[in-house]
Amino acid sequence: MITRERSDKVKLICENTTPDGKGIFEINNKRVYIPGILKGEEVEVEKNKRYELKRIITKSPLRIEVKCAQFDRCGGCQYLHMSYESEQDLKKKYINGLMKDIYNNKIPFTFMNNELYYRTKVQMTFKESKRHQLALGLYKENSHDIITVENCLLHNKKANELAIKILAILNKYKLRAYDEETNTGILRHLLIRYSETEDKALVVFVLATKILPKRKDIVKDIIALNMGVETIIENYNIRDTSIVLGEEDKIIYGTGFILDKILGKKFLIGSNTFYQINHEGVEKLYQKAIDKLELKGNETIIDAYCGVGTIGIIASSKAKNVIGIELNRQSIKLAINNAKINGVKNINFIAADATQKLNEMCLTNTKIDAIIMDPPRDGSTKQFISAIHKLKIKKVCYVSCEPTTLKRDLEIFKSLGYEIKSLECVDMFPRTFNVEAITLLGIKK
Ligand SMILES: C[S@@+](CC[C@H](N)C(=O)[O-])C[C@H]1O[C@@H](n2cnc3c(N)ncnc32)[C@H](O)[C@@H]1O
Repeated sequence: MITRERSDKVKLICENTTPDGKGIFEINNKRVYIPGILKGEEVEVEKNKRYELKRIITKSPLRIEVKCAQFDRCGGCQYLHMSYESEQDLKKKYINGLMKDIYNNKIPFTFMNNELYYRTKVQMTFKESKRHQLALGLYKENSHDIITVENCLLHNKKANELAIKILAILNKYKLRAYDEETNTGILRHLLIRYSETEDKALVVFVLATKILPKRKDIVKDIIALNMGVETIIENYNIRDTSIVLGEEDKIIYGTGFILDKILGKKFLIGSNTFYQINHEGVEKLYQKAIDKLELKGNETIIDAYCGVGTIGIIASSKAKNVIGIELNRQSIKLAINNAKINGVKNINFIAADATQKLNEMCLTNTKIDAIIMDPPRDGSTKQFISAIHKLKIKKVCYVSCEPTTLKRDLEIFKSLGYEIKSLECVDMFPRTFNVEAITLLGIKK
């Protein structure tokens, strides 16, 4: 509904909210989406290149105070303007609606006790003021504009504190931020990985040059903070790219790794290997995924897309043999080491493309009883799923962080005679439009 105010400004009433927290408006028979607006709210917008929010005139009773000054600009969170309960309702509605043509049952959700300060991986970009003061920020959604952020509500609190202290040290030595436009300066990104179980941190400086000036002094000052920094790495990224880490690393303090624990097992984490970012969430996720297979101890199982071996190592006490498959060689090296430090002997890791490896197993007719697969956001491949079918694997546990590609892959499983035994979600990424799903599949009798 529109009420015209002045020529350039209009008052609108929000007709609905999208699953990712945007208000839906109808203007001149066109749908317009404005982030951060709730159903029923009246707003004033101005039409420039697009409709820009000027003010909220009538607030929804579901609105809560937004505790982040950058919420409107950053795009990292989608739901800070509503309670966690309202977010949960939106997520349930979205996932149940998305899956309804392939799965008819109500999908259970596990939500987090801590919906804030859960991200144990902090990745920020350096910027510089006109007076050459460094600041840290996050990229605005779909752009290269850096929004200055201090104390992000999703980042682990100690990692936030550490980032602020490191920034002060870098400012003390008058270091310069890299400028994409002019291709000058040094500091590109700061990455912190934080182990909540060990209270230890890994710090990475991503640089546009091969030398971090004042390196020795900076390392000394960071260690003197006494904030659990166990290792510091320089990473060189001279490419014009939105990928944060370059391929070349130099460890300038410590071993290059920190230790973390999940469900009582130890894992070494590096700078460039995948590791889940929500500790409370990952314990719930892995426990549920492993429980779903109802292992008896005599099975050979595959942990496909295994990263640093986490799921397979945790499941190893419940199976006869585990085979971990992962493309990233650095992750495989760590996975082998992780098995060793946990004294796990019934697991083998293979550095390979998961599809290729499963096709090879089809040629040798390897007997596999169950598989856990946890592919990246793009999902798996038709050939990988066909190979599972050819190997006659009876139980498949599909862990997914992207519901749309999960749905696509589940349709392939169904076309090959698999049925969905259960499907549930774990809210690993509260306040954002991301959710993790666990699906158990079996062969239809
Ligand atoms: C979502 S992560 C899951 C990792 C691990 N299961 C965990 O929970 O930490 C997906 C993993 O798949 C790996 N990967 C990506 N493409 C792959 C491929 N074609 N074959 C095997 N592994 C792949 C990535 O390197 C990454 O470690």
